[in-house]
Amino acid sequence: MKSAHATLRGMGTFDSVNPARPGEVLGTRTLGGAAEVDAAVARAAAAQRAWAKVPAPARAEMIAATGEVLAARKAELAELVAREAGKVLVEANGDVQEAIDMGGFVAGLGRMPMGETVASELPNKMGYTTRHPVGVVGMITPWNFPVAIPSWKCFPALLAGNAVVLKPSEFAPLCAEAFVAACVDAGIPGDLLNIVHGARDAGAALAVHPGVGALSFTGSVPTGRLVAAAAAETGPRLVSLELGGKNAMVVMPDADLELVVDGAVWGAFGTAGQRCTSTSRLVIDRTVADRVTEQVAERAAGLRLGDPMDPATDVGPVITAESGRRITGMVEAALDEGAEVATGGALVEVDGCEGGTFMQPTVLRGVKPSHRIALDEVFGPVLSVIEVDGLDEAIDVVNSAEYGLSAAVYTSDIGVAMRAVDAIDTGIVYVNAPTIGAEIQLPFGGTKHTGNGFREAGTRGIEQFSQVKTVYIDYSGRLQRAQIDNRE
Ligand code: UN1
Repeated sequence: MKSAHATLRGMGTFDSVNPARPGEVLGTRTLGGAAEVDAAVARAAAAQRAWAKVPAPARAEMIAATGEVLAARKAELAELVAREAGKVLVEANGDVQEAIDMGGFVAGLGRMPMGETVASELPNKMGYTTRHPVGVVGMITPWNFPVAIPSWKCFPALLAGNAVVLKPSEFAPLCAEAFVAACVDAGIPGDLLNIVHGARDAGAALAVHPGVGALSFTGSVPTGRLVAAAAAETGPRLVSLELGGKNAMVVMPDADLELVVDGAVWGAFGTAGQRCTSTSRLVIDRTVADRVTEQVAERAAGLRLGDPMDPATDVGPVITAESGRRITGMVEAALDEGAEVATGGALVEVDGCEGGTFMQPTVLRGVKPSHRIALDEVFGPVLSVIEVDGLDEAIDVVNSAEYGLSAAVYTSDIGVAMRAVDAIDTGIVYVNAPTIGAEIQLPFGGTKHTGNGFREAGTRGIEQFSQVKTVYIDYSGRLQRAQIDNRE
């Protein structure tokens, strides 16, 4: 869940603020709408015509150069991520590193064949595929990976020969600008990368624009559904959605329980639980549940909430006060349904962070699979412990969520691990590692309501930004009828 309202200021502008101290304004930007999107699409479309003629390896060289610029600016970009998105410094560095890695990986793809050659059923004839740009790609990106996610989308889109209109989250406009500045400083023509700031209006205008060939959205399920429905009318044909998660960690009694505790604490409370991959359910065998829950709760209670810029801070703020209210509301509803607090559960004040919304890392025990907290995305630092009897029940619980992004299974039995890998219905499964921390060279995305089948990153990341063209070449010098002439 990543949508809310920007801090409105006067007519038509909004402030980017530090979520740890919302009084600290980092910048003021225009709230764009249909007119700004129109102008950006026109500029992008004009620039794309020349870009499409640049050979892919040459485009790739500029993407490689961008990776180097990002690497040279890693420290300052990470600081901006920490200040604007509230991610603790070590994670802010990881966010920027993910973009650097993506630059190197996508640059390599520029020299990789992007099609397949397939034998024809007829003699002296062949078939192959190529990939073609869609023209202008619209992108709507969230605040929680404010450099990494624009890179996941922009690099493959550019490599495929497209231009971009990017509508970043209104909570991280400056990070998006810093990412685009790195691209332009590395030599990518500026008109290929157009930012339209704003909230709902700008996103909606992009989703219905007939000049946009593909739209790539990462955010909440409700907004994603609105975007897809809007696009179906007049907008882009190719719509890729990367939506919510309700990620579970399955723990079997033979697991290394120390590893489980480490993984649960990092998966649930890293990024203050504000990743779409965050661990929000600990689906654990009853025989080890009390022990593990107590240890996870103890570790959670020891995490230091604070200013993300302070290296001693483990957990930063949640993005807005509204987000804090939503999360505590979900916790209260869970208690009404019968869950109990093992630790946390409330918002707290942090010295030196006036006005910031800080949520205690929270562990709820006694959660039943039917409780709302077991089914709805929280997008905050709340881990629900659900006790089960054995693997089959665990898998049923994991699969009962409407989302299917990431899951983890902890066991020392390879057979149990592989049964879980086979049966869990998610796009990503980890064995003996937490649900967060996907690497960019592998596909990222989910099943069910998490998405619509596309995958980001990996070699398939380019599919959402290009169209396949199938080419047949008949060099027999005569008419050959498929399905007929080879069937006497
Ligand atoms: C997201 O939260 O939208 O796998 C992306 C991970 C990160 C990406 C998360 N590499 O946790």
